[in-house]
Amino acid sequence: MSVFGDPLLSRLASPIEAANDAAESTSRPTPRVFIKSFGCQMNVYDSQRMADLAVGEGYTETQTIADADLVVLNTCHIRERASEKVFSELGKIRDLKERRAAAGLETTLVVAGCVAQAEGQEILRRQPAVDIVVGPQNYHRLPKLLKAALAVDTEFPLEDKFDHLPPSPPEAVRARGVSAFVTVQEGCDKFCSFCVVPYTRGAETSRPVRKILGEIEHLTQAGAREITLIGQNVNAYHGRGEGDRAASLADLLAAAARIPGVLRLRYSTSHPLDMGDDLIRAHAEIEALAPYLHLPVQSGSDRILAAMNRRHRVRDYLDVVARVRRARPDIAFSSDFIVGFPGETDADFEATLALAREVGFASAYAFKYSSRPGTPAAEAEGQIDGATKARRLAALQQLLEAQRQAFNHATVGHRFDVIFDKPGRHAGQLIGRTPYMQSVHSDVEISCMGELTEVEIIGVKPNSLVGRVVPRPSHRLRKLA
Ligand code: SAH
Ligand code: SF4
Ligand code: F3S
Repeated sequence: MSVFGDPLLSRLASPIEAANDAAESTSRPTPRVFIKSFGCQMNVYDSQRMADLAVGEGYTETQTIADADLVVLNTCHIRERASEKVFSELGKIRDLKERRAAAGLETTLVVAGCVAQAEGQEILRRQPAVDIVVGPQNYHRLPKLLKAALAVDTEFPLEDKFDHLPPSPPEAVRARGVSAFVTVQEGCDKFCSFCVVPYTRGAETSRPVRKILGEIEHLTQAGAREITLIGQNVNAYHGRGEGDRAASLADLLAAAARIPGVLRLRYSTSHPLDMGDDLIRAHAEIEALAPYLHLPVQSGSDRILAAMNRRHRVRDYLDVVARVRRARPDIAFSSDFIVGFPGETDADFEATLALAREVGFASAYAFKYSSRPGTPAAEAEGQIDGATKARRLAALQQLLEAQRQAFNHATVGHRFDVIFDKPGRHAGQLIGRTPYMQSVHSDVEISCMGELTEVEIIGVKPNSLVGRVVPRPSHRLRKLA
């Protein structure tokens, strides 16, 4: 998973190409929508649902922005660079919009997501080419907003947007591949002192079990095989279950695992405090649950964890790691770290390195602390200079990269169930993922696409593994009818 990886659907043509393309496209029968996603998995999921809504309004999706009558930027506010990037993209789209207008084509420009939520009206002021600003809780109203000339919709609504979203069309699910996200929980009540999420996504809410299972059934019927339950604080999930009793994430995972077609389950992102006993037990009991857990720790210093308002100590984190390992000995962990938090000393940073060495992560993300307006840490004393942050980031990333490589090399000679989901570079080759999210390519029959296929790892490349399909009839563990 890349929290801030390359945008899913990004392809921004140069303004000149755009104008040429636009001029050629006057006789098009259906309007087109282009959606670009920044930020986390939740935003990727929201983008997919906005695409479904647009399709319901008669649009078809395009990967080429110059072709689009409706452009949606689904933004992230987690760090400065992300929101600056949005404004620079908006500038380019304004030029594109002008060129399309010169060719007699209208373009509606929508800013959605967490920057939209945080900055609202200010976006229209800074970039008048924007037509609609819509927050993450309001995008179900997009069809209505499209009919209005100009709109800002960032109030937290009383209704549940999920009740107003159409099911994803089966062809859209298929086009998105065998791996699908399902939002089960939104918002966060933790208020870590550095983080904007509680402000942009609002209070923690959980969707009812029945609705989530219905969505998973719909996705698997359309070909999805790996389901990731997502939420800003997913293991705080407490949705309405059977007989109106609250269900935990462990209950939800157990029910999801029983749905035909669900070959692999994941959940993300978790807070260490919410790793309850039943969730840890689920790692032992639910076969489909991948032995891979993203568990952000942020820092290895108790002093900094307290200043971050993380509400757990290093010892609590290590205890959770040990308990999950006892339940599921082949589990691997990934994490998020922040370096250069206000007041972080060299000794605090050394403690972070020590924690990473003690746990040994399969993969992890490290970020420089970025001051976010409106969060308590932005006002804190002891802001760290850029050079120190850069030095610490490089040192931590070097360690985490060495751990990732070591983990990848340690998988050589082992056998894993791989779900192949796309063609490789050469004929006869497919690319899939191990339970540990490693990309693996193998020579394999096309019929293995979307199934669990037993693969032995025979080599390691910088960013992927090389696998050989285990030559036994039993390699198809759970072939579907
Ligand atoms: N809900 C998740 C993820 C939140 S955002 C969680 O609790 O872990 C994803 C990651 O971005 C965080 O884990 C954190 O490492 C990083 N992040 C959030 N705010 C940040 C900030 N102000 N500066 C630097 N990194 C930040
Ligand atoms: Fe942000 Fe902390 Fe909530 Fe994660 S747990 S979303 S870091 S406030
Ligand atoms: Fe970014 Fe909002 Fe996700 S701020 S990380 S898109 S919840």
